[in-house]
Amino acid sequence: MNGKFITFEGGDGVGKTTQVALLADALKSMGLTVKTTREPGGDVVGEKIRNLLKSCKPSDMDPLCEALLMFAARRDHFVKTIKPLIDKGYFVISDRFYDSSLVYQGVLKKISFEDIMTLKKITIGDFEPDLTIVLDVAPSVSIERLSMRKLILDEYDLMKKNEHDLIRKGFQKTAEIFSFRSVVVKAAGSEQKVFSRIMKIVQERIFR
Ligand code: TMP
Repeated sequence: MNGKFITFEGGDGVGKTTQVALLADALKSMGLTVKTTREPGGDVVGEKIRNLLKSCKPSDMDPLCEALLMFAARRDHFVKTIKPLIDKGYFVISDRFYDSSLVYQGVLKKISFEDIMTLKKITIGDFEPDLTIVLDVAPSVSIERLSMRKLILDEYDLMKKNEHDLIRKGFQKTAEIFSFRSVVVKAAGSEQKVFSRIMKIVQERIFR
């Protein structure tokens, strides 16, 4: 089977990291070669850029500078990790990809859709995921999950409820725009329940 690229998107605290791990285990148990990764990050350069981003208060950073750093990390991640592994037949699963830039730097930080798509075109060209799972949950649930997960929340986590709302709507919109590759999955309920919804979609979209 050819390599595939599956991305998980959604606001903070929707459960992406858990679901990425569950999907990776399921695909491995089917005999597939799987690599999980994340953005910003994924390899040496990306993780350094992630540390830089996380060490600055988002409010201290110019939004375009932030977007350029996200796409710089993405370019390196794409060229050195994602593309070579897909070419080798891997199933690469990423916790976030460029939809996150459209929502966080676009919707939240007001960089235009066109400008984000220009950065996308320059850095990764026409490349698109084979499938994007958009995890969708009410902000009250994601805020509660975040506060249970960490004692110390960084500034990305400490967004106000109206920002969680904007982010949620932003991802619903990207799922609509990129409906050829995106499916919105209700992320309320137990991890296993959410995972069975995801697995059904993966079966339909990837193994049909
Ligand atoms: P996380 O990996 O713990 O979810 O943290 C990454 C944070 O970075 C998250 O709040 C979303 C943000 N982010 C962007 O603002 N733009 C991007 O393009 C990506 C990939 C992440």
